[in-house]
Amino acid sequence: MLKIEKLKKIKSNFPVLIGSNIIPKNICKTLIKEISSSKSFDDMIMGGRSRINKGSKNFDKYIQNSKISKKIFKLFNSKSFYKKIENMFKKKFKNGSWENSNLPEIFNTKKFTIKKKLNSSELQKMLGNNYSNPKVNLDIDFSVSKGGYRLRPHRDDITRLYNFLIYLTDIPKKNGGSLTIYKKKTKKNIRKSFKRFPKINELDIVKEFTPKQGTAVFFQSTPNSYHGVKRFIEKNCPKRFFIYGSYALNKPVIWKFKNIPYYPHIIKNKKKKLTSFHDANYLTIPAAN
Ligand SMILES: [Fe+2]
Repeated sequence: MLKIEKLKKIKSNFPVLIGSNIIPKNICKTLIKEISSSKSFDDMIMGGRSRINKGSKNFDKYIQNSKISKKIFKLFNSKSFYKKIENMFKKKFKNGSWENSNLPEIFNTKKFTIKKKLNSSELQKMLGNNYSNPKVNLDIDFSVSKGGYRLRPHRDDITRLYNFLIYLTDIPKKNGGSLTIYKKKTKKNIRKSFKRFPKINELDIVKEFTPKQGTAVFFQSTPNSYHGVKRFIEKNCPKRFFIYGSYALNKPVIWKFKNIPYYPHIIKNKKKKLTSFHDANYLTIPAAN
């Protein structure tokens, strides 16, 4: 159902693979129907994105009633498919690239990143300070965005290894909603810290992708994997239907670049937020817990 062998490398500062017609158009259309007929969504984030998230009762119900979504979910939610993705990145980005220091052995099909709101010390406690022997799980949501949806440049959560997006609708260029890939404006020898939310003037645009039906993007969630979504204008065009997912560890990822480790430092914050909304910097020195 998914032609991942068609994914190709792009020129970028971090590993990104992209391909068109990864999912046939008729399957995309069925997926849109399935998402559209969902009676309820779990949440709405970033100014207009409604999600059905793995882990919710709503998600289980949705999967039961949606044949094709169920197939996709089952495919992604397996150790064999995770291994396929891991091997594909290893093969296509051989030397001198980013590596995860602690490879997971166990794939947990039942697990998902909790959607509970925590403050930074509760999050730190939950993640612990022993980052070896991690387990991996799939996080996935079936999403639809209306006008106004946008994402400022960021890097994803510190527990994530790979992220992927599958676009189900064609969005005309003039309507925005494009996925933008950035790089940090620094000289190559200064790579000591990677903020989660760099300022726009600290970044250069590397590439922009207008959503196309059946196109998929996979990328490694490295400390410098900066990306965002330009504001989506819903005018004479369909809503932006897509599938978003990631393979995440149950602990933070210690990334290595040319054998130099990068450790996550969670920024202290008393406010309770979803785990994936917390700020963290990647630095070459370990965090003192
Ligand atoms: Fe993201």
